[in-house]
Amino acid sequence: MSEEKIITGRVLSFSQSPFESAPEKAATLYEAVLVRDGHVATVGAAGDLRRQAPTAEVHAYGDALITAGFVDAHAHYPQTGIIASWGKRLIDWLNTYTFPEEMRFADLAYAQDIARRYFDLTLQNGTTTTVSFCTIHPESVDAYFEEASARGLRALGGKTCMDSNAPEGLRDTAQSAYDNSKRLLQKWNGQGRLSYVITPRFSPTSTPEQLRALGDLWAEHPECLMQTHLSEQVDEIEWVKSLFPQARDYLDTYEAYGLLGERGLYGHAIHLEPREIDRLKEVSASLIHCPTSNTFIGSGLFNMTQRKADGFAVGLATDTGGGSSFSMLRSMAAAYEIGQLTGTPLHPAQLYWLATVGSAQSLHLGDKIGNVIPGMEADLIALDLASTPAIAQRANRAEDIWEALFPTIMMGDDRAIKQVWVTGRAL
Ligand code: GUN
Ligand code: ZN
Repeated sequence: MSEEKIITGRVLSFSQSPFESAPEKAATLYEAVLVRDGHVATVGAAGDLRRQAPTAEVHAYGDALITAGFVDAHAHYPQTGIIASWGKRLIDWLNTYTFPEEMRFADLAYAQDIARRYFDLTLQNGTTTTVSFCTIHPESVDAYFEEASARGLRALGGKTCMDSNAPEGLRDTAQSAYDNSKRLLQKWNGQGRLSYVITPRFSPTSTPEQLRALGDLWAEHPECLMQTHLSEQVDEIEWVKSLFPQARDYLDTYEAYGLLGERGLYGHAIHLEPREIDRLKEVSASLIHCPTSNTFIGSGLFNMTQRKADGFAVGLATDTGGGSSFSMLRSMAAAYEIGQLTGTPLHPAQLYWLATVGSAQSLHLGDKIGNVIPGMEADLIALDLASTPAIAQRANRAEDIWEALFPTIMMGDDRAIKQVWVTGRAL
């Protein structure tokens, strides 16, 4: 007997990209979704679904918006404990707050404790898929994947590799980075819903030998994603150019060692030069926008409208804990504000699409997660569009769904997340 449930509310299903069509017409609202064996079976009128599945349990969510769970395309779960640390810019922030905290992940029990806390927080915020950097310690990868697996989550991540410009105790070597990444990849990649991501932190913390070793590993495992950071802050770019004087630009420090490709995820990518844009585009690489981080650390303004017009796959991310929130709603709000500062207000449909379909597509998982259409894994949330008095009074006078959703995007937090389902199972 297959397991069936019907969830009623206002089911938001994207039929096209709101960057390539009229945004207000990019999605359709249905009365209900039928979930069968952990997947979306159908969306449609509640009566039709009841006739189709007469024995299915019906779960009614009133006028809540039923959508795909959020997909956070770039985060650092080990930075959970130091989120919102004051007053530094990127390199000082790494040295002052991040590296000392990441040092603690040599202790498996500590890593497990933070992994539990991290997934409690992401799920409270409606995020059902995360892509995380771990630390250099293999234990930190085991803790992350074990916790995700225990909760049935789709999760991606990898061992962060660093053999240069990092403190004693937080450095591996080219060889050990290769060996441990390979071992962890073989252990975790494709286990249930888990995917291993090859993870050089960024070129300042890797020697050319390490970048080459990880490029070789990626060539041996082209099925894997590779994640790193690119052109986040102006000082950082200058530093990269001084460390790699032969490189044409920042991207070249990856390209030269086999770390540029279609399954590459390039976090931040704010201050790109024309050659970098051309090459990233030629190989169809994904860019990951981390808006709360880019304002919090003072990195700069990612031009979403331009990059989408260029044709890039762009994911949206919290960048916990350089980002100042675990919430993808807050990330959408920050993306909106950055859009305003770069001259284009992103439409609510574009913001919501980025946090779900766009992120999933950037991870090459657009056929599995990020939307409520038949065949997708049923990672869903129920979103209350009147979760606080301030939001409710504004949503009350809305004329359409996008106007009703926008106050929750701008002012909403975990109180708006009424329910989370992971492969159809209510948490
Ligand atoms: N660049 C290299 N490492 C990091 C990190 O941990 N956070 C951010 N925001 N940028 C980085
Ligand atoms: Zn990052």
